[in-house]
Amino acid sequence: MAAPHRDPTPGSPDDWWRDAAIYQVYPRSFADGDGDGTGDLAGVRAKLPYLAELGVDAVWFTPWYLSPLADGGYDVADYRTIDPAFGTLDEAEKLIAEARSLGIRTIVDIVPNHVSDQHPWFRAALAAGPGSPERKRFHFRPGRGEHGELPPNDWPSQFAGPTWTRVEDGEWYLHLFTPQQPDLNWAHPAVREEHESVLRFWFERGVAGVRIDSAALPAKDPALPDFVEGRDPHPYVDRDELHEIYRSWRRVADAHGAVFVGEVWLPDSERFARYLRPDELHTAFNFTFLACPWDAHRLRTAIDDTLAEHAPVGAPATWVLCNHDVTRTVTRYGRADTGFDFATKAFGTPTDLELGTRRARAAALLTLALPGSVYLYQGEELGLPEADIPRECIQDPMHFRSGGTDPGRDGCRVPLPWKAASPYAGFGSDAEPWLPQPAGWSAYAADRQAADPASMLSLYRTALRLRRTEPALGDGPLEWLPAPDGVLAFRRAPGLVCVVNLAGRPAALPDHDAVLLTSGPLDTDGGLPTDTAVWLRV
Ligand code: GLC
Repeated sequence: MAAPHRDPTPGSPDDWWRDAAIYQVYPRSFADGDGDGTGDLAGVRAKLPYLAELGVDAVWFTPWYLSPLADGGYDVADYRTIDPAFGTLDEAEKLIAEARSLGIRTIVDIVPNHVSDQHPWFRAALAAGPGSPERKRFHFRPGRGEHGELPPNDWPSQFAGPTWTRVEDGEWYLHLFTPQQPDLNWAHPAVREEHESVLRFWFERGVAGVRIDSAALPAKDPALPDFVEGRDPHPYVDRDELHEIYRSWRRVADAHGAVFVGEVWLPDSERFARYLRPDELHTAFNFTFLACPWDAHRLRTAIDDTLAEHAPVGAPATWVLCNHDVTRTVTRYGRADTGFDFATKAFGTPTDLELGTRRARAAALLTLALPGSVYLYQGEELGLPEADIPRECIQDPMHFRSGGTDPGRDGCRVPLPWKAASPYAGFGSDAEPWLPQPAGWSAYAADRQAADPASMLSLYRTALRLRRTEPALGDGPLEWLPAPDGVLAFRRAPGLVCVVNLAGRPAALPDHDAVLLTSGPLDTDGGLPTDTAVWLRV
């Protein structure tokens, strides 16, 4: 076997992030160490050997800080405290160090757009009243209308419903998400200072990177004007002021050798790439690929566009098939319409899980063969489908804010199955976990899949191992090869070819020396069946 081309031990190259495989942990649903029904840091620590064996380079934790959990932790009340439901700061420090000793780096989530309404700053702002310096750290305004009874502007919420809430003294405050997530005023120096201090706090505890939540939203037009379709600049999306903020963050990260990944949803690729200039963010999520239907032409275009938009700024692309906000991959790919947007999260959309799983396996090999870094969302390696959550158990505010029409995001946040023969599929709880696991969940359990060479887990383990050992994989050039309609074929130099068949008929394989890995069995005559991918040594 070739020597690993990436050294995951402490002191290894600074550019580890250019081709890292990063595993997203949603702590509440990963593993329950104390049996109370909620995942926690003790649960994660116990599973670190599993993550090391899976072969990931880093773990990204969605927010683990003190939070009333009005939006799954994206409502932070204190960045310097771990939520007691998850554990303690001491445990987090131990976890970061233990992971590092296994070659796994830690990435934490920072949510600059807003804080929790329970954050001391917001409580102080409410108590201090109109006109106070405490209110200036947020966006408080008098209302419109004769008695101030109308919201200060007409901005639509990211989660449906109004973006303004009126407080007792008559003023209104802005929240692009739920009322429990008041937006911060990024024109205020204290807001900037505090966030840089929070970054340092976590970098000093050994964190190697930060995921920036809703990274294109924090800056607002100070006049808070009404939204006018097509007017440039937008009053709160992708404003130029952000770049100066992230350049300043970059200096903090550079001082600690840490990196950023921005959650930047922007349709304009030129505007997107501006966040990735060499003195700004190292990487940003690429949602074009995630949102792409299972269609060879569309996928190839998404890949080409992504590589082309990153090239001028020299940043590596990131690839991601799912996360805690979107419908799980096998469910999405099993639908007649495989496109994704929030609107496709609907109750009872029919899906063919066998088809979806076959495609998700092929998509895994496609994704892991692309140049750049890749993000896996917990349970993706187990091939978990989106779960149907009984209405009375739904917790996601997105559901409630939609008036009950949108099922919300709980279906991809169900506690993981670890041990087929244990209660609650080995999640670790002594009582019903915080979200119910659907019937048949234990069939997906990690222990069962570990023993089955044909399982999704075995596929991911092998693919991640090859991705580490094959010098052609990870960062570097990609060259498309001629292929029949509906078939994607590309070379990763030196000597590795990936072929994905999305055509409705089997495809002949190009000349090769060896088959390294397939997402499913080849035809008896060596052809590549539909919805199957292969890595070839050439
Ligand atoms: C991001 C998070 C999402 C959260 C929202 C508000 O999109 O991924 O889970 O609800 O920001 O913070």
